[in-house]
Amino acid sequence: MNYNKKTVTDVDVRGKKVLLRCDFNVPQDKKTGAITDDKRIRAALPTIRYLLDQGAAVIACSHLGKPNATYESYVKKQTEKGKKPEELTEEAWRDSLRKLSLAPVAVRLGELLELPVEMAADVVGPDAQAKAAALQPGQVLLLENTRFEKGETKNDPKTAKALADLAGADGVYVSDAFGAVHRAHASTAGVADYLPAVSGFLIQKELELIGGALANPKRPLVAILGGAKVSDKIGVINNLLEIADTVIIGGGMAYTFLKAQGYEIGTSLLEADKVDYAREMLSKAAEKGVMLLLPVDTAVHERFENTDSFLTVDVSMIPAGYMGLDIGPKTVRLFSEAIRTAGTVIWNGPMGVFEFPAFAAGTKAIAQALAESQAVTIIGGGDSAAAVQQLGYAERMTHISTGGGASLEFMEGKVLPGVACLLDR
Ligand code: 3PG
Repeated sequence: MNYNKKTVTDVDVRGKKVLLRCDFNVPQDKKTGAITDDKRIRAALPTIRYLLDQGAAVIACSHLGKPNATYESYVKKQTEKGKKPEELTEEAWRDSLRKLSLAPVAVRLGELLELPVEMAADVVGPDAQAKAAALQPGQVLLLENTRFEKGETKNDPKTAKALADLAGADGVYVSDAFGAVHRAHASTAGVADYLPAVSGFLIQKELELIGGALANPKRPLVAILGGAKVSDKIGVINNLLEIADTVIIGGGMAYTFLKAQGYEIGTSLLEADKVDYAREMLSKAAEKGVMLLLPVDTAVHERFENTDSFLTVDVSMIPAGYMGLDIGPKTVRLFSEAIRTAGTVIWNGPMGVFEFPAFAAGTKAIAQALAESQAVTIIGGGDSAAAVQQLGYAERMTHISTGGGASLEFMEGKVLPGVACLLDR
C-alpha cells in the first residue's frame, strides 16, 4: 500500500466547503455523558485550524460508539445480549442513540477552538443539508454521529454521496480520522469516490511515523507485543517477524508461547487452539534469524485478583493451580536490555494485568525503559498508549498513535481502506 498521500497542503480549499472526517470516538462518563478524555478532539485541532485559516468552511463528522442505526437492529442486538422483549421499546432505542450524540463533542470542540461550533441534528438529513448550505468560510459545523445512518457501516454509496453533497460541487474531503482508517465505511472510505480526498495532519503524521518505523526503521527494530490474547495479535506477530530484528512477547499471550515451548503454565491464560500457531511462530523466528524473547520469570497467584501476596517464579516453576499475571524482574531486565540497544521500538499491549496495581510493575518498567531509551519509540494506541500516558511518560515517546485497532492493522501490514482511498502524491 502506498502511504505517500496528498494532504491538506496539496489542495486549494479557499472559499470551499471541506467535509472533514475526524475520530471523535471519545470516552464518556457512563452516568453523566461527560467527555473523560478529549485527546482525540485535540488531535484534530491542527487540521481544523489550518483549514479555517485557509478560508475553508469545515463540515466535521465522526462516529461515536457503536449505535444501532435502526430499531430492528437494536432489538436484535439487545435480544442477543439477553434483554427481555418488554424492555426493548422504541423509546429505549432512541435513548440509546441520545447517549451517543456528538453534541458534547461540539461543545468541547468549540471551547478548544474558541469558536462557536454549530451542531446538526442529523447526518445527511434536512438539518445537516440546511446548515451545510448556509455555512460560511471560517465557520465549523459538526454533523451528528455518522453511525446513526444505516448506510454508514455498510459503506452504502447513497450515504457516501449524500455526505459528499454537503460539501457541494467544488467540495473537498479531508480525512484525519486515523483511529477509523481500518473501517471501510461511507464516511471513512466511500465518500472519496465523490470528492477529491486528502489526509489531514494527524493521518499524515501517523503514516510517516508508523509507516516509517515499519518500512525503513533505524535498526535494530524491536517490537514488543503484549495483551491478553494471541488470537488478537496473530497478523501482527506474523508481519513483525518479517521486519523486526527482535520480537518480545509479554502479557497474557506469552503463556500460550511458553506452553508451545513445553512449559507447564498452571492456570495461566492458554489459547489451546493457538499452541500450534505459537510453535510455528517460534520456528519462523528461528528461520528468519529474528530474536524472539519470552518471559523468563513471572508473578503468579491462585486467583485473578489484585493482591500483594503473589509469588515470583521462573517460568519453569509455575506451580499447578497458579496463574501468571505479570512479567517478573529477570524478564524486565532481559526486555529492558533489548530496548536499551534498539534503534526503533514499536510497542503494542501491556505486559501484565495492568489494571491490578499489584501486576502493573512489568508494564511500568517497560514504559520506563522506553522513556529512557534513545530509540525512536512508537506506541500503538489502546492499552499501551493509556499506560504510557498514565505513567507520565507520554512526552518522552516519539509517537503515541491515536488509533487502537487501526494501528494494529497497520502493523499487520493490512490495507487500510481509509488511507487507500486518498489521492496519491
Ligand atoms: C477506535 O476507538 O478504535 C476507533 O474510533 C474505531 O472505533 P470502532 O472500533 O467502533 O470502529
